[in-house]
Amino acid sequence: MRKTFTFLLTAALLLALCACAGNTPANIEGNGSTTATDEISVTDETSQETEISEPSVSAEPETEQDAEEVTPDVETTPETDTDTENKKVLVVVFSATGTTKGVAEKIAKIENADIYEIKAAQEYTSADLNWNDSSSRSTKEQNDPSSRPEIGSERISLEGYETIYIGFPIWWGEEPRIMDTFVESYDFDGITMIPFCTSSSSGIGRSGKNLEEKAKSGNWLDGKRFPGSVSESDLESWIDGLNR
Ligand SMILES: Cc1cc2nc3c(=O)[nH]c(=O)nc-3n(C[C@H](O)[C@H](O)[C@H](O)COP(=O)(O)O)c2cc1C
Repeated sequence: MRKTFTFLLTAALLLALCACAGNTPANIEGNGSTTATDEISVTDETSQETEISEPSVSAEPETEQDAEEVTPDVETTPETDTDTENKKVLVVVFSATGTTKGVAEKIAKIENADIYEIKAAQEYTSADLNWNDSSSRSTKEQNDPSSRPEIGSERISLEGYETIYIGFPIWWGEEPRIMDTFVESYDFDGITMIPFCTSSSSGIGRSGKNLEEKAKSGNWLDGKRFPGSVSESDLESWIDGLNR
């Protein structure tokens, strides 16, 4: 009887143990996986949402920023204008009776240039300009290669000028001596010098070369003579054809 009871008790304990052993992994696995999965999936979803949403949110402004960065780049192109501003042009002119000054103004308009007018400290009168008078001031000056009439206009700074058109009337086949005063008073290093003149009929002759030799600086181009009535389009064609 006792043996039978012991056997039954042992069998019952074994059954109970087996039942426990079978359930425990299943429960842990079930509960654990659900819990873990929930936790992971929540974490994952949260982190994924965060990861997805962050780039997508930041992507839009970045695209806008990219667009904004392109705009200055495009606006930077006008910096070429700044370059153009650095390439300043000056028109220097001496004109006793206004004819050469008129041509100078047309050139300045075409070239968007500044104008500097050389004025004699002692202005030329009609009597001074009388070429039929061998004792007139202009005749005497032109007959004296060392004559250097004083300039009355304020000095100009040539800084920033890349090109200078230099204009004058022809007097006795040459540049007036006051032009020699001017070119000997400045340093034209690095500047392209372009002589032009007006006259009744004479050409520019050696005037441009004379100025170049006296200046001793600057890159001098061949000059050209114009009638006072020269048109803007003729001046434009000349300017377009300049080798500079
Ligand atoms: C003193 C003097 C000498 C001149 N000599 C000449 C000359 O040799 N050949 C010529 O064609 N014109 C000559 N002219 C005319 C001027 O060159 C011409 O009228 C010029 O266009 C005047 O320019 P302006 O008004 O800018 O001074 C002379 C004029 C003067 C006042």
